[in-house]
Amino acid sequence: MTHSNFDWIATAQKKYLCRYHYNICKMKAKSIIILILGLIGCSCSKFTGSKEPLYIGDEISSDTTHNVLVAYFSRSGNTEQVATAIAEHTGATLYRIEREVPYPEDFEDCATEAKSELNDSIFPALKDTIADFDKYDVIFVGGPVWWHTAPMPVLSFLKKSGYDFNGKIVVPFCSYANMFPHETLLELVDSTPNSLHPTGFISEKGDTTGIAQWLDDINLKLK
Ligand SMILES: Cc1cc2nc3c(=O)[nH]c(=O)nc-3n(C[C@H](O)[C@H](O)[C@H](O)COP(=O)(O)O)c2cc1C
Repeated sequence: MTHSNFDWIATAQKKYLCRYHYNICKMKAKSIIILILGLIGCSCSKFTGSKEPLYIGDEISSDTTHNVLVAYFSRSGNTEQVATAIAEHTGATLYRIEREVPYPEDFEDCATEAKSELNDSIFPALKDTIADFDKYDVIFVGGPVWWHTAPMPVLSFLKKSGYDFNGKIVVPFCSYANMFPHETLLELVDSTPNSLHPTGFISEKGDTTGIAQWLDDINLKLK
């Protein structure tokens, strides 16, 4: 990759601080001590992203039946593995989020294009649409961590595709290599502000261990 880790870190550090303060407000933190402790935590974890969840999961009732969609973006298959496992446990429909114009095959070219798309806030057009989107009341949405956040096609799906997420249950998940998974989940949560958000799932490099237990914990293990 032409961009060094320090490039990720410098950009990520800035964004992480913004996210951190936003999250503090969201949780109505009342004490300056919490803020100071948080800033200490931030400075300790600035090279790896937060070790703690950056949002508090909503409670989901266990006695409701759901129509479930798993929407995911995946370049090299890791997130797809997670999405497939979620669908197996929930009986969900799988939907692959694809950019209308695919990213270059070459890793470095892909990374460069993804970075400029992110920097310029470009929401790329997607390949297709979900005709019967309204019938789903639970939408798992996930992707890999790209440049410390969600890839722009995932944000196109959430913010620019005309789907109405209001009142729906949106469950974020992601796969990552070594940094910023919590920030990525928070980006997905922030992108659907009028939805319910149970605790999300983080997978290291596509590892699916713990998925059944997690779905049980959030009352969404349907099968
Ligand atoms: C353009 C690009 C940027 C990436 N940025 C990060 C990052 O900031 N943090 C991280 O932990 N992994 C990063 N990765 C690694 C992927 O998140 C990781 O390999 C993921 O599991 C790939 O999922 P996929 O196989 O579904 O595409 C990046 C990968 C690519 C291609």
